Amino acid sequence: MDIGWKGSRLCFLPIERDRHFRLQYHWINDPKVTEWTDVGDYPVTAHGIEAYLNSTEITHEPPQTILFAIEKLDGKFIGLCDIRHINYISGYGEIGYIIGDKEEWGQGYGTEIVSMLVKYCFDIINLRTVTAKVLAPNIGSGKVLEKNGFQKCACIPKYEWRRGDYRDVFWYYLQKA
Ligand SMILES: CC(C)(COP(=O)(O)OP(=O)(O)OC[C@H]1O[C@@H](n2cnc3c(N)ncnc32)[C@H](O)[C@@H]1OP(=O)(O)O)[C@@H](O)C(=O)NCCC(=O)NCCS
Repeated sequence: MDIGWKGSRLCFLPIERDRHFRLQYHWINDPKVTEWTDVGDYPVTAHGIEAYLNSTEITHEPPQTILFAIEKLDGKFIGLCDIRHINYISGYGEIGYIIGDKEEWGQGYGTEIVSMLVKYCFDIINLRTVTAKVLAPNIGSGKVLEKNGFQKCACIPKYEWRRGDYRDVFWYYLQKA
């Protein structure tokens, strides 16, 4: 396929109703996938997903939120990622990523997704600081950031109630050299 931003094994594409909605609905409502994400405490309907996507549709530039579907180069849809709270004057934005297909965990795709997000933020939309928020039990998410050079800069202890306890929250950042 000729469209999208390509990495070595993955491609970032626009989210399309026919191509991506059905799996997105399953992943967003899978408590294991959303265990440590900002979504997942409440049921999300197909209509809710559509309303969110409509609200983030880029109708004027520059956008405050940028969403991508993540596909393998063979076209398999495996997850979603975004850049949110973008500030173009100061040049920062916060990244988020979900590999919804659990069979694809642990194969280096999370590391590649963060690498592609950083490249997109620095080279395409000219941000200079990328941040990420991670709940402490999400060891894998912290690792994919650290493998991409992110530094942990803050911990708010017992900040967020998730899955039966108050969880420490870590903040990470990476700045353009
Ligand atoms: C978190 C997530 C993105 C990790 O992606 P991934 O493709 O499984 O990660 P990678 O294969 O690139 O692994 C990178 C490193 O983290 C380690 N790792 C991954 N998941 C781990 C886990 N659950 N526990 C401990 N280590 C883990 C890997 O072993 C690897 O370490 P190594 O390089 O020393 O061998 C993925 O599991 C996911 O999408 N989870 C659900 C949604 C989510 O939590 N998103 C992040 C919200 S902040």
